[in-house]
Amino acid sequence: MKKIILFADPGIDDAIALLYALRQPSFDILAVVAEYGNTFRRYAVSNSIYLLHEGGRSDIPVFTGAERPITGESPDVQPTIHGPYGLGDLHPFLITEQPAENIDQLIPLLDQHAEELTIVTLGRLTTLAALFLLYPALMKRIKEFYLMGGAFSVPGNITPFAEANIYDDPAAAKIVVQQAANLTMIPLNVTNEVLYPPGFFFEMEAAGANPLIRRLAEFYQRFNSQENGSLTIPVHDLLTLVALAEPSLFTYSHYRVAIITAEGLSRGMTVADMRPLSEQPPGPYPRIALDVNAPAVLRHVFHLFTA
Ligand code: BDR
Ligand code: CA
Repeated sequence: MKKIILFADPGIDDAIALLYALRQPSFDILAVVAEYGNTFRRYAVSNSIYLLHEGGRSDIPVFTGAERPITGESPDVQPTIHGPYGLGDLHPFLITEQPAENIDQLIPLLDQHAEELTIVTLGRLTTLAALFLLYPALMKRIKEFYLMGGAFSVPGNITPFAEANIYDDPAAAKIVVQQAANLTMIPLNVTNEVLYPPGFFFEMEAAGANPLIRRLAEFYQRFNSQENGSLTIPVHDLLTLVALAEPSLFTYSHYRVAIITAEGLSRGMTVADMRPLSEQPPGPYPRIALDVNAPAVLRHVFHLFTA
């Protein structure tokens, strides 16, 4: 079983990813770190507690991550896409009273499992970057990192050039991309290739999946159809966990990556040096997913949620 700590900002696609993680038999989820991003931190925390309860795993601790980017800017939350409290039209904070743990309590857990631990980050990189700044020796011992974020030579989703997880705190993203050993990036290049048709979540519910997944997806579909006229949706964060569970469904390449931290049109861009590795300064460089077997992913997700 893979020992995993999830950093997330639930968020609709984070929520579906978290429910997937709880059902994936090859995953052992040790903790969730909830931070600002799609919604404010307080809702990300209560949403995480609620989702763990929904998945029957209230024993998994939730840690409170960052409240805002490293620059101190206000969080640029996305109520139109993810709902006023981050989970579509649900208000789960009203029904969760279990307290979250302070982030310093995460350190002994990281220390105990570092060499066999996969950190998966599905949101802004602020908390993870802070851990790299505060505990560099400990963070170097972590076995591997999976990061949902970036857009390599394809359009962004929060600006024409940048993907949201990188754009919202590019300085943090730069720290993580430079310092994380064994980093796999799951960018929009692949997450926008796995599109869930309108009926997918209804059929999954009819086959026994938790109705919450359909309800969350429907909210996101409504937003998508207002934006671009299509009910077909990507579920970015879910794909990142599928990549970890089913690596053979993806094609990867290693590239040297730059993150643009300057303000302006290019803020948050991810740029890959696509020359042959032999012509680049010595790595190691992140592994980037650039191709995915989309029909196989849809079959896998359907099966996982209904088995
Ligand atoms: C990423 O940004 C967030 O809004 C989603 O939850 C996902 O992690 C996609 O760009
Ligand atoms: Ca997310």
